[in-house]
Amino acid sequence: MGKALDGVRILDFTHVQSGPTCTQLLAWFGADVIKVERAGAGDITREQLRDIPDVDSLYFTMLNHNKRSVTIDTKNPEGKLVLEALIQKCDVLVENFAPGALDRMGFTWERIQELNPRMIVASVKGFGPGPYEDCKVYENVAQCAGGAASTTGFDDGPPVVTGAQIGDSGTGLHLALGIVTALYQRTQSGRGQRVLAAMQDGVLNLCRVKLRDQQRLERTGTMKEYPQYPNGTFGEAVPRAGNASGGGQPGWILKCKGWETDPNAYIYFITQAPVWAKICNVIGKEEWATHPDYATPAARLPHLKDIFAEIERWTMTKTKFEAMQILNKYDIPCGPILSMKEIAEEPSLRKTGTIVEVDHPTRGKYLTVGNPIKLSDSPTEVTRSPLLGEHTDEVMAELGYSPDQINALRSVGAI
Ligand code: COA
Repeated sequence: MGKALDGVRILDFTHVQSGPTCTQLLAWFGADVIKVERAGAGDITREQLRDIPDVDSLYFTMLNHNKRSVTIDTKNPEGKLVLEALIQKCDVLVENFAPGALDRMGFTWERIQELNPRMIVASVKGFGPGPYEDCKVYENVAQCAGGAASTTGFDDGPPVVTGAQIGDSGTGLHLALGIVTALYQRTQSGRGQRVLAAMQDGVLNLCRVKLRDQQRLERTGTMKEYPQYPNGTFGEAVPRAGNASGGGQPGWILKCKGWETDPNAYIYFITQAPVWAKICNVIGKEEWATHPDYATPAARLPHLKDIFAEIERWTMTKTKFEAMQILNKYDIPCGPILSMKEIAEEPSLRKTGTIVEVDHPTRGKYLTVGNPIKLSDSPTEVTRSPLLGEHTDEVMAELGYSPDQINALRSVGAI
């Protein structure tokens, strides 16, 4: 059976993390992704955070599976001609250069349309139009400017960035959706279009609930599910909520057996209203099921700290997995705090292809995160990332260049 995006050709002009996340997803859905890199250097992440000398880093390999790599110097006049040929052959150009870089290369939107009116040009930028549109942006800049950092962490500490790469990988995901949507529209319009995903916008989209809370705060001056309630104070802006749940069912991270030595012996515990009586039974506080201070969600809000302290007295007598097993029997929502080591070793994630072992010619075997989106008719097979320029000759031949022409271009440094 074919793949969902069979026949779609992507000119992948991406680097670092945000753009490569997007094109990797498209490759996993079956698109032919041709990554254009500079000869001799390539995507800067090939050499960043290396764990083996002179071998493509995990940073690179884990973001560039299922792609082909060609080297083209797009500032060389003859290299530009090769890029033009690729633009004419491809359906989508994806890039995440600093603002203006593509124009400076001579590939403005107008020029690309002249070459291929059906081409979709998809970009990640740090910011959308406005005061910061010319800025270069990395992950944590976007987390800060998109509202994530000011709302993450504890009230008595500084803003905190999250390890989840919501600015880079999150925006790559947004861009991928924009691209397939534009491809769909092209089936009716016959035209390409520009797709922009700004990292600030992507992070803010993921922080939507915090803008919700900002408005609730402005209207009522308080938010009863936040840890600042009832004894702390609220200012003008949404405060950091520690480990409080972002939704309507209060939750918190609680210690489990072994927490003194294991930094991940914790569980996330949600006091979902429909299972409150079961929670009371499990922790041995049966009287709370009917006590007026605890029986209803509204009555519980001023007592959340005490409630979680009492539940923690119970979770501390169990490992996170024992607690999970007991709580799941009663449909009480909870989640163990899993370390990366535990995740890497989890058999069920290997079975579903969410964690995949890949073999690489110079690195050997390594683990990666496979496609988190599973299509029943378009299963993903993860193949290794390309070596720098591994497919230059192959792609040049597909563009109609003869071996002599390829050699001539190589000798002048165009490819
Ligand atoms: N041949 C010749 N030149 C090439 C080339 C090629 N194959 N590929 C890239 N270049 C050139 C570009 O034309 C650009 O040149 P210019 O500045 O003279 O116009 C240059 O390489 C570098 O591009 P730039 O994007 O500025 O790289 P950088 O390393 O300085 O900045 C970022 C990196 C990520 C900060 C920047 O690209 C950016 O802000 N991107 C948008 C937001 C983003 O995606 N951020 C997250 C990254 S995970």
